[in-house]
Amino acid sequence: MSLDTNLDKILIIDFGSQFTQLIARRIRELGVFSELVSHKKITSNHINNNIKGIILSGGPLNVYQLSQKTFDKRIINLGIPILGICFGHQILSKFNGGKVKQSKHREFGLAKIYKKNNSILVKNFFNKKKTNLVWMSHADQVSKLPKNFNVIASSQNSKFAVVENRSKKFYGVQFHPEVTHTKNGKKFISNFIFLICRIKKNWSSKDQKKKLIKDVKKQVGGNKVICALSGGVDSSVVAQLLNKAIGKKLYCIFVNTGLLRKNEEKQVVETFKKRLKINLIYVNAEKLFIKRLNNISDPEKKRKIIGNLFIEIFERYAKKIKNVKFLAQGTLYPDLIESKSVTGSHTSKIKSHHNVGGLPKKMKLKLVEPLKFLFKDEVRKLGLELNLSKEIISRHPFPGPGLAIRMPGIITKEKINILKDADHYFIQALKKNNLYNKIWQAYAALLPVKTVGVMGDNRTYEYLCLLRAITSEDGMTADFFEFKKSFLQMISNKIVNSIRGINRVVYDVTSKPPSTIELE
Ligand code: XMP
Repeated sequence: MSLDTNLDKILIIDFGSQFTQLIARRIRELGVFSELVSHKKITSNHINNNIKGIILSGGPLNVYQLSQKTFDKRIINLGIPILGICFGHQILSKFNGGKVKQSKHREFGLAKIYKKNNSILVKNFFNKKKTNLVWMSHADQVSKLPKNFNVIASSQNSKFAVVENRSKKFYGVQFHPEVTHTKNGKKFISNFIFLICRIKKNWSSKDQKKKLIKDVKKQVGGNKVICALSGGVDSSVVAQLLNKAIGKKLYCIFVNTGLLRKNEEKQVVETFKKRLKINLIYVNAEKLFIKRLNNISDPEKKRKIIGNLFIEIFERYAKKIKNVKFLAQGTLYPDLIESKSVTGSHTSKIKSHHNVGGLPKKMKLKLVEPLKFLFKDEVRKLGLELNLSKEIISRHPFPGPGLAIRMPGIITKEKINILKDADHYFIQALKKNNLYNKIWQAYAALLPVKTVGVMGDNRTYEYLCLLRAITSEDGMTADFFEFKKSFLQMISNKIVNSIRGINRVVYDVTSKPPSTIELE
């Protein structure tokens, strides 16, 4: 194993906590390079002068399970400042002669800690009452402090919530400063890296871009990579990153399902093929999708048909490109956290979300997932660094099954065309009124209900159009966006007056839960 660059860095030694990547993210946000390595791989021989501080992460083990073989504890005594978090705090104490045992009271979730002594580590961390709310997640705890360690803060159940050995620059913390639930957690990490490790800022999104390109090159070598491009933010950023890294060895497959937003296929071809000169294979499968969806109204059946057909087409085209070794995917960090259930329980299936995750097993391809340690906002920043337009980067999410799940009931070409227009007018109006970026996701849907209206002197009997616009952090929960009456009036008029087939518009004011964001 060799460490990544000769930049000064904070080394994060991973003992398997679900939060380890968050530590890396906080350090990135503070403008400092960090490198994450498994405790099984790093030895004291790897430690060099570029390492200005070490963070020992949390983890699911207990300290007595950690064997000599899987962790080289000589790393602890090389004179480098160390911050142990949760399990990391427990091993730091144990290796220095302290004791760890199972807590009488396990602590999970928010806990109040009380400041006992001053330390540079907690500068501006506590409130005026010398308390703070922090996020705990542990069953074991330090029961006896090693010699020359002092208590900086305690909670009701953890006497040694924050400790230090100032002369050796050893610090231990039972809670998780890296999670946002810990108030001022970032300040805590900032104090450690800047005031104790004295590292200087040396990391930006430009550096991130260079590093990711280098990593992709290293992973795929001279091999061919295929990528399913949807035109959404994540797959667009992956495609452009790979384009920069391996150029013509990348083959992007874009399937026009006929269920995309108005003119979307033209925009994708224009952007990726013409402007960014990406190797793009455009597959027009509109007719096939309509045919397979004929007379289908069950939401889950629609999703399955679309997912399977997508894979079928993708495989067919991928096979034509000989000797492909890798499949690139826009997996993000939250996808990884969610797929690793913390409690081991299975969340109940609400909808079968469609992505290309099922492909590699069948096709025996290795995965390239360059965004898997990034969050959405970091991906957006990276996209801008990669010269993708603001328009692509700030697009609202769009589901894989597309307009099919915004059209309850059976799907016809006529209905698709009506819906594309309604959605287009709605989104254009949001952009024109500077509302688009205040809304997390917005769309029009076409309900399988006809109602009576009057236009001129004539009776009409046409479809109902539903508008949905929500605010959200991550799509898991959502609330409806509050429009002014004048906006709703204007867009309702525009849609009814411009589109034959719709004579009534309603606005959806349900939150998620109890509703979902999409209709099906
Ligand atoms: P729901 O309807 O489950 O949607 O509240 C939450 C978010 O997920 C998007 N969504 C999908 N995205 N494939 C996707 O890639 C899908 O099958 C799918 N279904 C829903 C939805 O647009 C919203 O942003």
